[in-house]
Parts: sequence; structure tokens; C-alpha cells
Amino acid sequence: MAFDQKEFQSIIDEFTIDGERLREIAANFRQDLKLGLASPEESSLRMLKSYVGLPTGKEKGEYLALDFGGTNVRVLRIRLEGAGKYEVVKKVAKPLRVDGEYDYVGAGAKAEEMFDFLADLIDEAIDGDHGTKYLLGHTFSFPSEQTDLYNAKLIIWTKEFATAGVEGKVVNDLLEEALSRKGIRNVEPVAVINDTVAVLLSAAYKQDRVYIGSIYATGHNTCYLEPYEDSAEPPMILNLESGGFSKLAPNHYDTLLDESSEKPGEQRLEKMASGRYMGELFSMTLGTLFGDEKENYGFTSIDMSGIISDASEELDEVASIVSGKAGRTPDRAERQDIQKLAKTILNRSARLVTATFVGIVWQLAGKGDVTEQHVAVDGSVYEKMPGAKEDIMRALSELLGQDAPKVDTVLDNGGSGLGAAIAAAMAQKG
Ligand code: GLC
Repeated sequence: MAFDQKEFQSIIDEFTIDGERLREIAANFRQDLKLGLASPEESSLRMLKSYVGLPTGKEKGEYLALDFGGTNVRVLRIRLEGAGKYEVVKKVAKPLRVDGEYDYVGAGAKAEEMFDFLADLIDEAIDGDHGTKYLLGHTFSFPSEQTDLYNAKLIIWTKEFATAGVEGKVVNDLLEEALSRKGIRNVEPVAVINDTVAVLLSAAYKQDRVYIGSIYATGHNTCYLEPYEDSAEPPMILNLESGGFSKLAPNHYDTLLDESSEKPGEQRLEKMASGRYMGELFSMTLGTLFGDEKENYGFTSIDMSGIISDASEELDEVASIVSGKAGRTPDRAERQDIQKLAKTILNRSARLVTATFVGIVWQLAGKGDVTEQHVAVDGSVYEKMPGAKEDIMRALSELLGQDAPKVDTVLDNGGSGLGAAIAAAMAQKG
């Protein structure tokens, strides 16, 4: 039995963004950037100041990097060697939630418990050495209001995090308190940055011509170096919190997903584009096709990866993933449709992300020419989802036309950690 083709096509149409619409989204994004600089209350972008510019590439020394922002938290000891070189001396990582064991991110979790957990992980990374002095850079990947490089107050949780007692607090104060509860007095948090900022710092440490940094993973967000050309202000990286961009046209599934999320109305772009939500959208559309809309099959973006990459004649992998989660074994025609559906949802996501990149590139170009540049990107969707990079390249060339050869995206793997170490080094310089 094949799916009802009228219904199938209408779902595909809902998730399709044509060239004209794509251009409109890029232009609207640019407009929101301009508004964000001039009259922030009218923009859907938070455009948060990071109090840091680009590194010189010559930063040196050993630093601790705490990378907090996804399902896994990591602490690294990183030696910066200057000349864009570095070495990871030690790395420890733990999930923030293990089913049936502990959960530091759900609504039942408390700030103190979560930060104690982080302090323990830091202790592991320094091998319990409470003598050597360490400066720590903290990549905290949530919207935070900063007054300087140290002071970052969490505005609102995103990505379905819900730990009590962190919103509105200076996160490094919470960290310091936890460190001191654990008797770790030799670790001094000196900088907090967003993960997009970390990716930009990390890429710019290693190569020239990078002004935009982005995460395309569980969450999605982008930052860029604002040159403040016509003012006395020095260039500074602004964290756009572009996942909150809202001048979009959500479809039926986007609306349903938003309504059932932790923070309805927030993070509209992120809910249409990032890995955390793509699987949910896919689950909902399959629910429609299978005729049980109420069912939540729990597909993830990893399942979508498996479905998209199945190149076998009978699409056996598609069948096994779908029967594993939805309890039905689709026939061959249905498998093809399911694969097309996953590709279409991913393609929409990649096109939306690209439109925001181009909006920034246009804004940076102003009335002049587009500058040759690399957009630094990190994250599992960009790195691992089959077809994501190609979809981005195609959308870039569609939007930029003859300027397309000037702009490409580069993977900055592990930038969240390295960037935190670089920020700590930059903080030290004052
Ligand atoms: C969410 C956060 C943002 C972060 C992004 C990627 O959008 O709000 O701060 O950069 O996820 O992790």
C-alpha cells in the first residue's frame, strides 16, 4: 500500500522553500540585523554583545575549557601554542542526563546540583590537582546578557533545557560557588562565550577571512564580527541568537511542534531547522501519513541520517528504522516516500540556515562588494547529516549568484572547546 499521494505531496509542499521565498528570507534576516543594531526592540534577533573581537592567532598558554550546551558536557585542558597551533592535553566528557540514573537538565533539576556536577568534571580534568593555577574559559551555549567577558546572565533556557534556578543568574558565579563548595580554589573562570562565538574564535585562530561562526547541531545559532565601521567602538562579535529569528512562515507541523515545546513562541527558526527538532517534525509528518497524528514515534535526526543515507535497492535500512520506531514495516513505494520526506525536511532546514548566512554576508558587504570569506560551522547536522553541506552550497550559489565563489562554509570541529581556551587567553590580556 502506498501513501495517499495527494496527502504526501501536500506535506512535501509545506516543507519546500522555493528560490523567491529563500531570497525573501535572506533579505528579511538582513533587515532584522539592521534593526537589531539600530532599534533592537523591533528585531527578532537578540544580537548579544560578547565583549570579544577576533584573536591574533598568537595566543599562548595552557587553559581549561568548559564546553556546556548540549547533551554532553566536556572539560578540556588545552595548550595554545600560537601560530594557530594547539594541543588538547586532556579531555573528559559526561552526558547531562542518563535515563534512569540522573538528569541535570529537566524541570526537576536544580542549579546547584548541575553546577556541582560540572565542578566534579573540572576536578577530573585537572586530575584533582588543587595547587596549579588554571584560568578557565566557559562556552555556555544559551542566550546570555553580558556586561563584560566574565559576566554572563542566562536570559532564558533554549533547546528544551529546564533546570531550575539558572535563568536570570550570572552563570560563572554559580560555577565559582560550586568550585568553592568542592574546595577547588585554583580554577578561576575568566570568560564566558556562546558556542557560536567559540567556533568563530577557533576558526579565526587558525585562518584568515572568517567573520561568521555558526552551530548547526542540537540547536542552531550564528554570530558575526560587527565592524562598527562608522563609530569609535572597536569591532566586536555579536551573538545573534538567530534561532530566535521569527520572520518566517511556519507550517502546520511547525505550529504543532511549537505549541508542545517547553517555550512556545520562542526559537522559531531553531524549531524549523535544528537537529533537536527535525526528528520531531519528521515523526509528526509520518504520523499523518500513517493515519495516527497523535502518535509520537520519537524519531531523531540520527534516524533521519540513517534513512537519508540508505542507498540499497530495497531501502532496507529505511524499513528497519521505521519499523523499529513506528511499529510498521513500510512497503517499497512508501520507503521511497519516507526517504524523500526526510530529505525534504533536511533541505528546508539547510536552506533556512543558508538564508541567514547570506543575510549577514549582504549586511557586511553594505553597498560594496561581497568580501571573500569562509563561514565557520560546527555541529552534528552540518558534519554528519548526509546532504546537509551540499544543500547549503546549492542554496549559497542560488542566493549569491556570481558572488558565490567568494563564500564557502568550513567545518570547525571541536571549536566550542578551543574557542573557550582562546577566550580565556584573550581575557588575560585584558
Ligand atoms: C541555542 C542557544 C544558542 C546556541 C545554540 C547552539 O540556539 O540559544 O545560544 O548557540 O543553541 O548550541
